[in-house]
Amino acid sequence: MRLTLIAAQSLDGFITRHDTPGSDFASAEDRAFFRAALRDFDCCVMGGETYRTARDTIRSMLMPERLRLVITRTPAAFSYDSLPGKLEFTDKTPSQLVAELRERGLRNCAILGGAQIHSLFLEVGLIDEIWLTIEPLLFGEGTPLLARRTSAQLTLLSSEKLAPSTLLLKYRVKK
Ligand SMILES: NC(=O)c1ccc[n+]([C@@H]2O[C@H](COP(=O)([O-])OP(=O)(O)OC[C@H]3O[C@@H](n4cnc5c(N)ncnc54)[C@H](OP(=O)(O)O)[C@@H]3O)[C@@H](O)[C@H]2O)c1
Repeated sequence: MRLTLIAAQSLDGFITRHDTPGSDFASAEDRAFFRAALRDFDCCVMGGETYRTARDTIRSMLMPERLRLVITRTPAAFSYDSLPGKLEFTDKTPSQLVAELRERGLRNCAILGGAQIHSLFLEVGLIDEIWLTIEPLLFGEGTPLLARRTSAQLTLLSSEKLAPSTLLLKYRVKK
């Protein structure tokens, strides 16, 4: 199972602009990259907060070939949204979740945030790659890329300009 963290952030490391939920600050070029990149994944994982922020968009874009999993401490509270095989809610740990996805034959999973979910998977060494879009913006405050103190070493795999001032950086996480 390969796990890739995909996020867009300001140059100073925030995945939201101040207190505004969502990633509306991301450029059209990043949004196009994100949509195209997701086609190569058979599974996406996000946190309860990210789901609540983008619920309507996520529910309007469900595809049978891609499972969306939401990590929450109260899966039962989302039973009205649950669509087995398409949109599922779980309180499993990252290791339990990866084992289950492997058993279900899934191979390629995108970790779609937010900060708490990034930290949850990084701190148990389950992230293989990080694909980070750096937008030419400074926020000073907001939701950081990671929710908790972390120490990880990365190897740069590629850098590409998505737009004249927007960079896409791909890293492998050293294990
Ligand atoms: N720019 C980007 O690329 C990007 C990407 C993703 C998200 N975002 C933004 O980031 C913000 C959300 O980030 P966030 O860090 O606040 O929240 P988050 O990581 O999306 O979700 C946090 C939630 O995950 C669940 N959770 C966390 N740890 C858990 C554990 N150990 N076991 C079970 N469930 C657990 C809890 O859900 P419950 O409360 O349901 O129990 C918790 O409230 C949103 O504004 C979103 O739009 C930006």
